[in-house]
Amino acid sequence: MTRKILVLPGDGIGPEITAQASRVLAACQAQGLDVEVAEAPVGGAAYDAEGSPLPEGTLAKARAADAVLLGAVGGPKWDKLEDISKRPEKGLLGLRKELGLFGNLRPALLYPQLAEASSLKPELVAGLDIMIVRELTGGIYFGQPRGIEERDGQRVGYNTYVYSEAEIERIGRVAFEMAQKRGKKLCSVDKANVLEVTMLWREVMERLAPEYPDVALSHMYVDNAAMQLVRAPKQFDVVVTGNMFGDILSDAAAMLTGSIGMLPSASLNESGQGMYEPCHGSAPDIAGQGLANPLATILSVAMMLRYSLGEPALAERIEAAVGKVLDDGLRTADIAAEGERSVSTSEMGDAVLAAFEAL
Ligand code: NAI
Ligand code: MG
Repeated sequence: MTRKILVLPGDGIGPEITAQASRVLAACQAQGLDVEVAEAPVGGAAYDAEGSPLPEGTLAKARAADAVLLGAVGGPKWDKLEDISKRPEKGLLGLRKELGLFGNLRPALLYPQLAEASSLKPELVAGLDIMIVRELTGGIYFGQPRGIEERDGQRVGYNTYVYSEAEIERIGRVAFEMAQKRGKKLCSVDKANVLEVTMLWREVMERLAPEYPDVALSHMYVDNAAMQLVRAPKQFDVVVTGNMFGDILSDAAAMLTGSIGMLPSASLNESGQGMYEPCHGSAPDIAGQGLANPLATILSVAMMLRYSLGEPALAERIEAAVGKVLDDGLRTADIAAEGERSVSTSEMGDAVLAAFEAL
């Protein structure tokens, strides 16, 4: 059956990087991948064209797709929009919510060719390969009640940190299954010494563990996890945590690898449908100049092939092609060393395609 992929270029460097990723998808089609690829507007571009950052037509196409590839949204042009519901970021949040994308996968993989770029000493990060599984649609970012109000003559702000057992269980299963496919180690990060909601979190993870006897489950308090991540990051394989802790830890883990231009991500729902996007934003400072690194987006295509389309061999081939161009010394400006020659967005795309074909 022909599967559907929807590409949402978005704003800033979004169109430049998704263009290169689309070429890689086309190369996969030439290898027999049976997919239909369509494009639609999202974010500021969609607001300009249709008055909404997530037009009905785009949402309908996203719902019907097996997988969505998103570039990035946002930029100074739309920052002053008075109506917050029209801001580009609402397009992204709307997609996450409407598609029920609760499982966010954030790999932090160090390419040996770029070890110099890490914030840590090479020996601490050589071979680093962590997968952070972050719950994305619940927790304190969404809990009710929330607000700022007057109490006893002063203003107070409050949010609610809430997870149901069912929400914890479904993200737990994603993480245990991920650990089964990787190094068989799962570290669940919580604050169970202080927060009841994470006491329940820990209890549910413990309850699931016997169903995955090949996975070694451990627990860590989030403050210690932050410390361990920068002290000895290689102790981690798969990490599972809630929305807020995951937001922070995944950004910290990402920086251990050095470059924001290299980091893909996936967000999955219960039926395996997913949205795939680079971790970086729309980089308005370099947009339209051919300077953007397309590798995070190309690597997001690899994740799409692996997690939504069941094509691990093609995913590995893309990842190997990226490894090959790095071996060959190709660098966009963001990953080039001082004084090193750099290539443009499309030259990097050319090189990945050539390496993909040659493998
Ligand atoms: P950013 O990730 O866009 O840029 C941070 C820095 O990294 C900039 O110096 C940029 O040039 C560089 N950079 C990012 N991606 C790169 C790439 N592929 N190649 C080379 N260099 C790259 O984050 P920033 O500046 O905080 O936000 C810019 C805009 O992007 C804002 O409007 C923000 O709201 C939006 N944004 C969108 C996201 C999304 O669509 N998922 C995520 C984060 C921010
Ligand atoms: Mg973040």
